[in-house]
Amino acid sequence: MTSVDTRAVHAGRDDLAGLGVHVPPIDLSTTNPLPSVTDGGDAYETLATGGTLPAGASAVYQRLWNPTVARFETALAELEGTAEAVAFASGMAALTATLLAATRDGKRHIVAVRPLYGGTDHVLATGLLGTEVTWARPDQVAAAVRPDTALVVVETPANPTLDLVDIAALAAAGHAPLLVDNTVATPVLQQPARHGAALVLHSATKSIGGHGDVLAGAVACDATWATRLRQVRAVTGAILHPLGAYLLHRGLQTLPLRVRAQQAGAEKIAAWLAGHPAVERVHHPSLHDPAGLVGRQLSGTGSLLAFEVRGGAPAAAAVAGACQLITHAVSLGGVDTLIQHPASLTHRPVEGDAKPGGGLLRVSVGLEDPEDLRADLERALSVI
Ligand SMILES: Cc1ncc(COP(=O)(O)O)c(C=O)c1O
Repeated sequence: MTSVDTRAVHAGRDDLAGLGVHVPPIDLSTTNPLPSVTDGGDAYETLATGGTLPAGASAVYQRLWNPTVARFETALAELEGTAEAVAFASGMAALTATLLAATRDGKRHIVAVRPLYGGTDHVLATGLLGTEVTWARPDQVAAAVRPDTALVVVETPANPTLDLVDIAALAAAGHAPLLVDNTVATPVLQQPARHGAALVLHSATKSIGGHGDVLAGAVACDATWATRLRQVRAVTGAILHPLGAYLLHRGLQTLPLRVRAQQAGAEKIAAWLAGHPAVERVHHPSLHDPAGLVGRQLSGTGSLLAFEVRGGAPAAAAVAGACQLITHAVSLGGVDTLIQHPASLTHRPVEGDAKPGGGLLRVSVGLEDPEDLRADLERALSVI
């Protein structure tokens, strides 16, 4: 197999030479001419039930199929090592579609491992989509799975504390399909399907887009799951706009380079923060990997880190507000460095003990010179 760098540049572009173009066209048509009522109706039936576009058929309507979106999906599937991928309007739309698809046969129970992104935690904790959740540590998952369990949900590395979970062990333990949120690792560092995950979820808003200008989600999976997910997408309508798909497809080409450069910066910042007197603890896989998953499951440590300052929430708020080069903003995985306070923002809805501590700040390291980032953090930490 060619390397991830090569695949990232070329994936999802097989049809371009035949079209006589070098970059993917952005197909904005919301509707498509129908060759006849019969052929149009047949294509509608195929697509609305989650099938793929038959060769030569009309795509009918953008909510059912779009070639620009399909190219991005092909590329992501190739990088994740899955048969297919299905793109959505956001990461939360991708999760919603997955929960609807997984529970459509009446199984409503979800086993979930915390920590999870606050939005994911919120959807599961509230049961807004008709699910019932059992929270479990990784070693409790096998016991928590029931005959009516539709899905096991895990995030690794987890947002915001970068906890690592052994995907293969979890896949072997549960007798329910395993969903791994791979947003933080990206397919450059980890391909969960190769370790037994049935569904690999991305907030493509993050590293895949990489420039903070596309909101999107995707699920990489086998053909059966993809059919179910496309059916939910066609019916509920949380589609990805083709312009977003174009930008994500382009983003994939530089993803390996960005991930490695941002990770190099994150490792330097994490090591420096670990020795800072105002910092109680630093969370980054370069510093904490108790099960030895870096190198085995995760080929690198990633660009996201978190740290706990002495002085709790007031001190953390002061540090976030004092950064000048680093932007005080939610989101992660982009080319510029962001800092935010999970307990107040991304993980605000998380209840009880599962909520991140008040002193915790999360930093998504970008492509700036790590020395400049260190200087900004040093100045910001001096205010407490
Ligand atoms: C790990 C993770 N999963 C899912 C999501 C949700 O994605 P989106 O904001 O694109 O809906 C996020 C967003 O921050 C995230 O960090």
